[in-house]
Amino acid sequence: MEKTIDENVQGTTLVVEGEETNKRNLYIESYGCAMNFADSEVVASILATEGFNTTQTLEEADLVLVNTCSIRDKAEQTIRKRLTEYNKVKKSRPHLKVGVLGCMAERLKDKLLDEEKIVDMVVGPDAYKDLPNLIKEVDSGNDAVNVILSKDETYGDISPVRLHTNGVTAFVSITRGCDNMCTFCVVPFTRGRERSRDPQSILTEIKELQENGFKEITLLGQNVDSYLWYGGGLKKNFENASDMQKATATNFSKLLETVALAHPKMRIRFSTSNPQDMTLDVIETMAKHKNICNHIHLPVQSGSNRILKEMNRLHTIEEYFELIDNIRKINPDCSISQDIITGFPTETEEDHAATLKALEYVKYDFGYMYAYSERPGTLAGRKMEDDVPERTKKRRLSEIIALQRSHCQFRTEKHVGKIQEVLIEGTSKKSENEWMGRNSQSTVVVFPKENYKVGDFVNVQINDCTSATLKGIAVSYSDNN
Ligand code: SAH
Ligand code: F3S
Repeated sequence: MEKTIDENVQGTTLVVEGEETNKRNLYIESYGCAMNFADSEVVASILATEGFNTTQTLEEADLVLVNTCSIRDKAEQTIRKRLTEYNKVKKSRPHLKVGVLGCMAERLKDKLLDEEKIVDMVVGPDAYKDLPNLIKEVDSGNDAVNVILSKDETYGDISPVRLHTNGVTAFVSITRGCDNMCTFCVVPFTRGRERSRDPQSILTEIKELQENGFKEITLLGQNVDSYLWYGGGLKKNFENASDMQKATATNFSKLLETVALAHPKMRIRFSTSNPQDMTLDVIETMAKHKNICNHIHLPVQSGSNRILKEMNRLHTIEEYFELIDNIRKINPDCSISQDIITGFPTETEEDHAATLKALEYVKYDFGYMYAYSERPGTLAGRKMEDDVPERTKKRRLSEIIALQRSHCQFRTEKHVGKIQEVLIEGTSKKSENEWMGRNSQSTVVVFPKENYKVGDFVNVQINDCTSATLKGIAVSYSDNN
């Protein structure tokens, strides 16, 4: 899920209200996907009971943790640069300890700990509950490592501390890991097998969020459509489950419906959907419940059947289009966004043309587009030569981005003239006098503040737009307040 987070928040530090009895300062920085940001909240929660308050000032830190991303080479390079900067701070604060969390842990543990010696601790995404022990180890002067991946850890019993930047929107993890094995993707290796979280713990977390004033949640997973709870256990073992377990199992559409009914005033989003696993009942459930937002993030990766096959995406482009047609039929108001990789090994101009054609077919509301980055250990990394020249990748990427931009314009213009419900998230980046929020389709809307406040649901008359932002004027509170 290493996108959806906008580039501006990469490297964001987390700060929570301090406990007076806590004596040490934790500086925690997060990179990559929404799941990493959610995980940092779990980590901050675990360490709050271990004597750590959070700080945003590196020079005050006693422990620096960086929650890392391995999805593309560039992400890893950025983080490695940061690690050398933390190391410099050690000169003036010799007791400072530095730990690496998340996806780079398993891949680079030997290099970071033994060869370069730039970190004291390496902790994989399933080992955060071991942090108190690992910190003790580090305190006694040793290095500490735990990168064991788990078949059942979901942190369902941990109540994450929240990033109090807006107090309105929050992430709630529902699955961890991924079993899909797309050949370009490092996630199944860094985050391990797919497992689903107990629905009861999901509901408890959402209830807490509601009690604390949150108005919108995003259910998170690498592949949310694959969610399946039958009392615990891996999805691949479901066929061995008892009849009783099978009869009472919760799939994603049931989970979505349960959450929507339990919290009719809470806005619900989810990410990411996978074309091969998304079922029509999910789209029907979305259409049935007003509080489930009308947006589906549905990565396509490529428009060429040959490349989709090489990527081990288990669907054809025709099947993908059929799914898009069904989404539009069942829920015509739904926005659709994409992820695309350009320059996958062996990609020809013909394959590239097929991707542009797919863009034309769907006319996505927005998207995240990347040049292929070979990841060591993945099937493509081991078996295929990264043979599309960098210049060609860049040129194809810019063609894709230009076409997508014209579709963004086309889609945002369709909102102009309408009155839409917007949840206010904060002040607009461009103007102190305007609020920023999103409509149901997840398009950003800005409008004059008047007497409204953060967390209000407001009906906004949309008057104008750029390719990415709608502009309007509030006309009233919506009935969702
Ligand atoms: N299912 C996940 C996808 C994780 S990665 C989710 O929840 O979003 C997010 C996106 O990064 C992918 O959809 C893909 O478009 C891109 N990506 C993954 N591996 C990549 C690689 N090796 N090179 C370039 N882009 C990649
Ligand atoms: Fe990666 Fe494919 Fe899973 S993109 S996260 S292996 S669905």
